[in-house]
Amino acid sequence: MCGIVAYIGNKPAKSLLLEGLKRLEYRGYDSAGIAIMNGKLNVARAVGRVSMLEEKLETLDGFDGSLGLCHTRWATHGGVTELNAHPHKDDKHGIALVHNGIIENYSALKTYLKEKGHTFTSETDTEVLAMLIGELYEGLGSDLEAAVQAALREVDGAYAIAVICEKEPDTLVVARKGSPLFVGIGAEEYIVASDAAAIVAHTTHAFALDDYNVVKITRSGFRTSTIHNVPVTPKIEQLELDLQQIELGGYPHFMLKEIFEQPQSMRNCMSGRIDAKDGRVTLGGLSNFAKDLTRAKKVILTAQGTALHAAMIGRYLMEDLAKVQAQTEYASEFRYRNPIIEDGTVVVAVSQSGETADTIAALNEAKDRGALALGVVNVVGSSIARQTDAGVYLRVGPEIGVASTKAFLGQVAVLTMITLFMARRRMMSADHCTDLLREMEQIPAKIERILEQAPRIKRVTEKYIDRENWLFLGRGYNYPTALEGALKLKEISYIHAEGMPAAEMKHGPIALINEGMPAVFIANKGRQYEKVLSNIHEVRARGGHVIAVATEGDEHIADHVHDVLYIPEVAEPLSPMLAVIPLQLMAYYAALARGHDVDKPRNLAKSVTVE
Ligand code: M6R
Repeated sequence: MCGIVAYIGNKPAKSLLLEGLKRLEYRGYDSAGIAIMNGKLNVARAVGRVSMLEEKLETLDGFDGSLGLCHTRWATHGGVTELNAHPHKDDKHGIALVHNGIIENYSALKTYLKEKGHTFTSETDTEVLAMLIGELYEGLGSDLEAAVQAALREVDGAYAIAVICEKEPDTLVVARKGSPLFVGIGAEEYIVASDAAAIVAHTTHAFALDDYNVVKITRSGFRTSTIHNVPVTPKIEQLELDLQQIELGGYPHFMLKEIFEQPQSMRNCMSGRIDAKDGRVTLGGLSNFAKDLTRAKKVILTAQGTALHAAMIGRYLMEDLAKVQAQTEYASEFRYRNPIIEDGTVVVAVSQSGETADTIAALNEAKDRGALALGVVNVVGSSIARQTDAGVYLRVGPEIGVASTKAFLGQVAVLTMITLFMARRRMMSADHCTDLLREMEQIPAKIERILEQAPRIKRVTEKYIDRENWLFLGRGYNYPTALEGALKLKEISYIHAEGMPAAEMKHGPIALINEGMPAVFIANKGRQYEKVLSNIHEVRARGGHVIAVATEGDEHIADHVHDVLYIPEVAEPLSPMLAVIPLQLMAYYAALARGHDVDKPRNLAKSVTVE
């Protein structure tokens, strides 16, 4: 996903736009660009971070106006070049446009526009949209709002856009379909952004655009309509985002901040939802669907990346504790596999952002086939939250680090609560539920104990930092944890890592093991402990170096491995919430030791809004 910020008001736009853009940089950071209206349209673009654009602007005049827009890009159509960076312009009227999303029929539109004599300078779908608005502009009475509406009627795909035009120097037009966009309302000023994080420093009074909405904004007011020009009344709300939540607060990186926030974010996630005394879970979002969940025949959990790993743990929980058939699906595969959805199927879309295109597509496929759709989402009001029948928010606060940490934990905690909500209504005894809820209440304090070991986890990680291939192995509930440990390491340290069930290793991957290869085993006390010990010996016998995540008090394991990282004792179904913490820290310290930009890993973006 890319980031958009636009401003119209009485203040100098440039600094305000750049400040907002920096807050959105985690969404994409290949290149950045800005357009400011100052009598005429001035555009500057730069490859690289927002700081590169800032440096360039220091050498340029003409960027002093109070109407403008800007963008930070995660490349989809066309490579990372200045010509492909946004804003894109039309070739006739001084129209500048920034865009998040994909124009799917851009190729046909480009052919049409070329036949009309337009010349393109980039490989992007966005330039096609700018050109189309320009092509329609004159024929619609030189009215930017009308031209944007008309152009969007021709477009297939997803968009959040902001548009300005030299011929209408007091107008900003914005629109959305399938990609978030918010309008913040200040005193005679408006700040538009694809993420509330860029707005809250200026105002908390805002509204989110609905799909197919177009807003024309001037300094004296705004008008909201559909792309068919039907007036719409937006729902203005207070943004519930605290500036502190989106600032580093003394930490060197958002990822580290978010790892250390996990005790508190777990408390927030569970607050008011679990009652250990009565063995009860209360999930307001599901209360109207309790019967459907009690009678559910099958649960399909669908997601991508880290969220999929959380979903896999959810599957184990649901089968084990709620005794319901459950399966997990890569959202990207599910949609195209002609899936069988029978009566009584519940589909659960798990997503931090709620904007992941693959997950949205899978969700809609399941809904079309008659499944009850639930969302397990962090971002309030996101597309998945809106498109599901019901759901449970994570309540872990904004996650800025590209590598997901506290959202993973929140997803696992929410899936645990949904499982217990179902299990109690199916066949779990109050005593069993009470026991697990008591253990859940202790999770935050236990995470704190693991975090105290951060310096030791750092030392252990640094011992292996020159190794290019790592294995992460676990069984049962901690097989997905092993996958998550491997993904974290890959994402930010660029070390090759594979996660797999510990028992699977001997069926082939064992051939990879050579002298000194690090193998991280999740070897906490549980049903498969002895079996994991055997797998550890298989690795050691071939020269591998074993780092074990083990249960406090298990002194015996130290005789079998090279390094041990301890986690407090916990009921097995809840163990991933503790076992993942040392793995998150290992990934962080590995990336740091290798000198990488932890919060902005290469090639990644926080939320992937293209299929
Ligand atoms: O926003 P979502 O949870 O739907 O995102 C899904 C994945 O793109 C995401 O978890 C990704 O794998 C992260 N980079 C993991 O750290």
